[in-house]
This record gives sequence, structure tokens and C-alpha cells, in this order.
Amino acid sequence: MRAVLVGPPGAGKGTQAQILATELSIPKVSTGDIFRANVSGGTELGKRAKSFMDRGDLVPDEVTNAMVRDRLAEDDARDGFLLDGFPRNVAQAETLDAMLKETERSLDVVLELKVDEEEVVKRLSGRRTCRSCGHVQHVLFDPPARDGVCDVDGGELFQRDDDREETIRHRLEVYREQTAPLVSFYDAKGILATIQATGSVEDVTGRAKSALRDGA
Ligand code: AP5
Ligand code: ZN
Repeated sequence: MRAVLVGPPGAGKGTQAQILATELSIPKVSTGDIFRANVSGGTELGKRAKSFMDRGDLVPDEVTNAMVRDRLAEDDARDGFLLDGFPRNVAQAETLDAMLKETERSLDVVLELKVDEEEVVKRLSGRRTCRSCGHVQHVLFDPPARDGVCDVDGGELFQRDDDREETIRHRLEVYREQTAPLVSFYDAKGILATIQATGSVEDVTGRAKSALRDGA
């Protein structure tokens, strides 16, 4: 299956992508995670991306598209993938279509996670990420057994730089202006499926699995 998750920051794309990719045995390709790994590794790509990420702006398309092209050319993505955080505007979506067409592939389904902005602010301001394994928790909704310590591997939990309230508001604006148009773009292609992303993580996973199974 070749699928895309789309939704505002904090909708739970990363949380669901991790679970769904494991259950469907396809790789999760998260542009945000790849950028963050490059920033912490101090690579050239990370240096180019960092200032955009800190402000909550999109990294320029030519940087992002080239990175995704390389990732989707890897062997494990040949027969399927779950994209999380890409595409993020119509130009990226058109590039993705063209990229897939080169190898006679196309997307099966685009799953939209819907959640309102106040919920997003609550989710992101309480989010904590593990420095060693990347596992994501929440101070209220998924509190770690020990304060500041990852439940999976005991690593240190930290708050992302772009999860400060004013940056969250800006990311929401960027979503509204640049990413939300993708919903009608994919609806017009007949491959959009939309689910409510509120309720427990398990409930959302259940809805996502049915939507992916049934397609658009
Ligand atoms: P990215 O990492 O993609 O950030 P985002 O889209 O803003 O998404 P988030 O990671 O903030 O949220 P999420 O939906 O994954 O939610 P999560 O599962 O963590 O991108 C970061 C930056 O990189 C961008 O700003 C940009 O600069 C750059 N970038 C990335 N892709 C790009 C692209 N294609 N083009 C250009 N630039 C790009 O959940 C959030 C919290 O809620 C967690 O604490 C979680 O535990 C909790 N939670 C999850 N589900 C539930 C639930 N059901 N109930 C209660 N709490 C829940
Ligand atoms: Zn961890």
C-alpha cells in the first residue's frame, strides 16, 4: 500500500504512522523525523532546514523533494510506504505524483486526520519526545511512568523547539494556507478518506485501519 497521512500539526500523524506502518509492514517515511535527525546530526541538510523548522515554516520544496525522492528510491519503499508530513503543499503533491509515475506507481489512499485547533495546541504543548529512540509521549494524555523518562528505553524526554505556543500558532497558519488545499486536491482525484482524530489513540487507529482498508 502507498498511503499519505495529512492533517494539522499535532493531529497524531506521527503516533498513528508508527503504529500503522508496523501493522501493515510498510516503512513509515516522516519528513519531520528525517529533518530532525539531520539537524541533530549536524549535516548540511540539517543546517539548511533548521531555521525554517524553528520558525514553523516549510523547508523549501527543492530541499524536501530531493530528500523524499532519495528515500522512496530505497529498496524497502519499493512495494509500499506510509508518508507522514509529505506532501505539504500542492507543488509537493504534484512532484510526488510525477516521481511515482516515473516508476509506474501511484498513491492508493490519502488519509486526512481531522482535529480542531484548540485540541492541537493542548496536544503539542504537552508533547515530549525521546532523545534516544524518538518515541512520543504526552504529559497528560500518555504520561511517562517516571517524570522526563521515556517508557520504551529510559531515554531523556524533551520538548521540541517548535512546540512553543507562538510557533504552534504559526504552524497552524501555515497548515491552513499551504497544506489544507491538499484535501480538495486529493478529493478531486478520488483517493481521499477522512477520519476524526479525536478520542483515544486506539480508537483513532481503528478508524484509520478501516479507512485504509476501504480506501476512498
Ligand atoms: P513535522 O514533524 O511533520 O510536524 P507537524 O506536521 O507539525 O506534525 P507534528 O509532528 O507536530 O504532529 P503529529 O501530527 O505527528 O502529532 P503526534 O503524533 O506527534 O514537521 C516539523 C517541521 O519540519 C515543519 O514545521 C517543517 O519546518 C519541516 N517539514 C516537515 N515536512 C515538511 C515538508 N513536507 N515540507 C517542508 N517542510 C517540512 O502527536 C502530538 C501529541 O499528541 C503527542 O504528544 C501525542 O502523544 C499526543 N497524541 C497523539 N494522539 C493522541 C490522541 N488520540 N489523544 C491524545 N493525545 C494524542
Ligand atoms: Zn525512548
